[in-house]
Amino acid sequence: MTAADPSLAFPAKFLWGTATASHQVEGNNTNNDWWAWEQQDHIRDGTRSDLACDHYHRFREDFELLAALHQNAHRLSLEWSRIEPTPGYFDREAIRHYRDVLEWLRRLNLEPVVTLHHFTNPLWLSSKGAWETVEVVDAFGRYVARAVDAFGDLVRYWVTINEPVVYATKGYLEGLWPPGKRSLRLLAQVLHNMILGHARATRIIRDRSPRTDVQVGVAHHLRVFDPYRPILPVDHFVARVGEAFFNRAVLLSMLKGQFQFPFGRGPVPDGHDGLDFIGLNYYSRDMAALDFRYPRNYFGSFFPHPDRPKTAAGWEIYPEGIYRLLKFLGQFDKPILITENGVADERDELRPAFLISHLQQIHRAIREGVRVEGYLHWSALDNFEWAEGRRLRFGLIHVDYDTLERTVKPSGELYAKICAMGGLDAGMIAAYT
Ligand code: FCB
Repeated sequence: MTAADPSLAFPAKFLWGTATASHQVEGNNTNNDWWAWEQQDHIRDGTRSDLACDHYHRFREDFELLAALHQNAHRLSLEWSRIEPTPGYFDREAIRHYRDVLEWLRRLNLEPVVTLHHFTNPLWLSSKGAWETVEVVDAFGRYVARAVDAFGDLVRYWVTINEPVVYATKGYLEGLWPPGKRSLRLLAQVLHNMILGHARATRIIRDRSPRTDVQVGVAHHLRVFDPYRPILPVDHFVARVGEAFFNRAVLLSMLKGQFQFPFGRGPVPDGHDGLDFIGLNYYSRDMAALDFRYPRNYFGSFFPHPDRPKTAAGWEIYPEGIYRLLKFLGQFDKPILITENGVADERDELRPAFLISHLQQIHRAIREGVRVEGYLHWSALDNFEWAEGRRLRFGLIHVDYDTLERTVKPSGELYAKICAMGGLDAGMIAAYT
């Protein structure tokens, strides 16, 4: 095996892997609010998660494949609705299943990064308003305690909540995800409760985990916001508002244990020193402009740059963004895991160059002193992409949804070389950028 060019080698213990989420890959998650939402025909391409990738039954082969592709880490989420199908009742079979999953990862030397909440809520919780009411904090805490007791010996990296701001914006501002509401009041309340839930979960994990090396973080979706018309101060202002709301307020509330405007005031109970690491989910950049058609967004509109290259999801491909956001996060002096980064690309035409160019920018940030400890590409497998359905393919591994056959894509092979070398080499860069 060749080695990475010394100038493009990543740190020695770097985590190289991929990320998934339970509902998107497992199949038959019939007991959560996303399943119910799908039955109401909200999915853009008319598909449903159904059997998804049947990963619930095929996790062994899937993880063997990831290990054979030289990965050494894997992010997954626990499906709360399986573990606690009715309030206070914990399902032994589901717990056994996730122990098998985590033991299998460990056996294959894939470091598990475990998310406790990745968008889906058990039906019993959503019927009570899910994250809209403060009762969720106790419910979440009870589930987290059970999960730490059941799996704590196997898990070093816990992610409490995936992308709180995306969850709240999609479900409570845009109305495109369950529960399909549009209310600024509820949006703020949901995020307030997620900040509380994160703090509660963090304390529970630290108190109950049997591991001395346990690390708690959040997977935070950050975007770059740039003014569309740089000569207009109002566009700069809109970009700053977008950034303050989307990138900073929730993250800083969790990090400092002090509520940031507009999600509350004063100290967050249990919130002190709320993050051992920061999980960065990075996809794209938005242009920001003043636009009187959007009073709900404070007259701001956010959109992909019309003239730049885009993914199949219509998102701008902007590798430098990950560097800029890593530099922003670097100021907090916490270890950073890239918990997601990837591209919707049906034919795997964009992904190889996407991988290389983003890794180059990550390497640049590391060279400048930012403490990036791992890269988890979204995603291992093509999977069910929420309101977009199956149309968008994010996997390094292709899934044929009729036969469920897995085929490693060229980008998957390329990533395997990168993982094996622990970095990039000049030949790859020349070939793909
Ligand atoms: C992120 C989600 C993840 C996946 C990617 C494409 O916002 O966390 O589940 O859908 O986008």
